[in-house]
Amino acid sequence: MAEKLVVVGQGRAGLPLAMRAVEAGFRVVGVDVDEWRVKRLNAGEPCAGDVGEADLAAAHASGRYRASADYADAAGFDVCVVTLPVPLRDGAPDLGFLRSAAERLAPLVRPGVTVVLESTTYPGTTEEFLRPLLEAGSGLRAGEDFHLGHSPRRAEPGSRRWRLGNTPKVVSGVDSASLTKVGDFYGRLVRDTVPVSSPRVAELCALLESAFTHVNMALVNELSVFAGRLGVDVGEAVEAAGTKPFGHAVFTPTPDVDGACLPLDPSYVPWAVTRGTGRTFRLVEVANDVNRHMADHVVARLGLALNRRCRSIRGSRVFLLGLSPMEVAKALCRMGARVRAAEPDADDLLLPAGVELAEPTGGELARADAVVVLSGDDRFDYDRVQRTARFVLDTRGRCRGANVERL
Ligand SMILES: NC(=O)c1ccc[n+]([C@@H]2O[C@H](COP(=O)([O-])OP(=O)(O)OC[C@H]3O[C@@H](n4cnc5c(N)ncnc54)[C@H](O)[C@@H]3O)[C@@H](O)[C@H]2O)c1
Repeated sequence: MAEKLVVVGQGRAGLPLAMRAVEAGFRVVGVDVDEWRVKRLNAGEPCAGDVGEADLAAAHASGRYRASADYADAAGFDVCVVTLPVPLRDGAPDLGFLRSAAERLAPLVRPGVTVVLESTTYPGTTEEFLRPLLEAGSGLRAGEDFHLGHSPRRAEPGSRRWRLGNTPKVVSGVDSASLTKVGDFYGRLVRDTVPVSSPRVAELCALLESAFTHVNMALVNELSVFAGRLGVDVGEAVEAAGTKPFGHAVFTPTPDVDGACLPLDPSYVPWAVTRGTGRTFRLVEVANDVNRHMADHVVARLGLALNRRCRSIRGSRVFLLGLSPMEVAKALCRMGARVRAAEPDADDLLLPAGVELAEPTGGELARADAVVVLSGDDRFDYDRVQRTARFVLDTRGRCRGANVERL
């Protein structure tokens, strides 16, 4: 019989993993405490991650996938992957989700099984927090009786190019047998695995990737705020710099810090550094400050652009392509704009008061006084936006033309 995989958490990280594992031949139970989500998934309605109806239908058709809100259905697993958030609350990581899952999983841990944490979290979480909970609840020892490791998730939301299967996966274990088991498991799901020497390295790797994105985003974001005053098109400079074949990575200005593959609150990294060393991670804190203010900058740029067209934000029809960051929609509504928005993942979102969802049809786009491109999602037709909209403020560098202003 196929090996049994339990994926704890059927959100943006857990659901795509579950789908990929079904494809790879595992029997998968996706455990999630959210009964609404479980019901939808079992009815074939995807509600998280880059998982479409066809993916979920194929998983159900295989007879090897189901979601459950009951941890009893996790019993008898061979491999369990935990994909729960460890959010920052009041400046410190909230390990509540992880604790509750670990306490319920521990009695189900049997000799020989493998448990992997995928959550983005501070270095030490797998070994100092998860391990003792699993050992206490099972009466078994990690590394001796069962295998334990960490493997950070990497995702480019909305990307057609980078999927779980072709994105190299960093793997680790609390001992060499665990590393082998964790590596073998992911070796069945992804093309390349990258073994590292300990879960701490894997955890820090995820924080480094997140900080790298955050700092580089802040660099181009701040540059874009000044570039207009310098009379330079920052987008063109970013593109030109991107032709450097070494020592450079391309980042484009964006207010969408959350959607830009940052899997965690940017303040997490400074918190982890301060906890471990007593020092402050100034660079990331400054980046955080710059990025937080980008939504205000977008609204200010839109105000200026409308002003040049003898219009004000109040009363203007603004169509948002994408809703992240929500601060843009909220500020526009507060200022009296009539805001409509297209958001492919709207199911997951709490809409700000005053925002109506709509499809980005030619008519919708043409009716708007301004279209603001907040998302770089490949599911949108950016050519149509450029062709039909009267004015486009593009924060993602997806449109070009006389009617387009880029951030
Ligand atoms: N989303 C991404 O693309 C991405 C990228 C890199 C890293 N990560 C990391 O993956 C982890 C999960 O993030 P996510 O985006 O999938 O979160 P999410 O909020 O989309 O999903 C989390 C799911 O866990 C469920 N849950 C909460 N407590 C539970 C419990 N005790 N038992 C079972 N289910 C429970 C929730 O109902 C929810 O469905 C985070 O640590 C995040 O930093 C995510």
